[in-house]
Amino acid sequence: MTPSVTVRAAAKVNLHLGVGRLRADGYHPLATVYQTLSVHDDVTVSTSARWNVDLVCEDDIDRASFPTGEDNIVVRAGRLLAAQHGVDRAAEITVRKSIPIAGGLAGGSADAAAALVALDRLWDLQTSDEDLLRLAGQLGSDVPFALVGGTAVGLGRGEIVTRMQDEATRWWVVVPSMVGLSTPAVYHHFDELSPDAPAKVAVPEELVAALADPDNRVLASVLRNDLEPAAIDLRPELGELIEVGERAGALRGIISGSGPTCLFLCSDRGAADRVRTTLLDAGHPRVIIALGPVSGTHVVEYN
Ligand code: C5P
Repeated sequence: MTPSVTVRAAAKVNLHLGVGRLRADGYHPLATVYQTLSVHDDVTVSTSARWNVDLVCEDDIDRASFPTGEDNIVVRAGRLLAAQHGVDRAAEITVRKSIPIAGGLAGGSADAAAALVALDRLWDLQTSDEDLLRLAGQLGSDVPFALVGGTAVGLGRGEIVTRMQDEATRWWVVVPSMVGLSTPAVYHHFDELSPDAPAKVAVPEELVAALADPDNRVLASVLRNDLEPAAIDLRPELGELIEVGERAGALRGIISGSGPTCLFLCSDRGAADRVRTTLLDAGHPRVIIALGPVSGTHVVEYN
């Protein structure tokens, strides 16, 4: 049997997404707090002479938006890792996807982080954590957090990650949208709506204090996403969805990252079940109960 390695990586929500004024390099300064959710993709890699990417998913994932060729982020991750070690390798990669595509849940970033770790193990490269984090940062702003997982602050353009304590269980209801939103388009609209955005942003003390409190009502009161007005302006139905979920008993509804996935923080499992039922009855085809935080990227199978 061809040797293979399977690595799991989780979706994320931004508990806080503070966005500053556009930088000269085309990125925005961020002060964000990420949390992993129990919605994950599994990435399996095996030795091959040529790069190939396959997608395995249910019908509710937008298969057409998944690049199967060389421009898929998992192949970029593999090429970057091979170049780092000066080796000429390729691999067969299968992505088992549950994280919505272009949903603001960093699904592509999770796949990239999983591919880095899986190929490092498959090729026995023993890349240091420091190098993995650096390569992850080159692949995308959210990729270093996908490696680390849990709850963490992200600074710079989101790639400078520091872990935080969060012992509590946070109950989320996740409502993906069938049509993705482009991250650059949402940031661009943010620029139009917020010409006075500050050059520097910071994580508020209230959020750090709320994470030390297991009561989800406390966390709900401080959730904030600076990209939300831009995402709702582009997709007004997201604002209506947030209202429906909050009326159904969620403590707070927010858009994750650049959207369009909406997340509802709930007081406990029972409340999350009730919100889910209401949203399914309202015609949303996919409504997922997830908890956070969960582990970062980790190996689940060696063959
Ligand atoms: O880093 P990543 O490739 O995920 O970013 C995708 C796009 O999102 C960037 O090209 C940029 O338009 C926008 N972005 C940004 N500021 C950030 C992160 C992302 O403007 N801090």
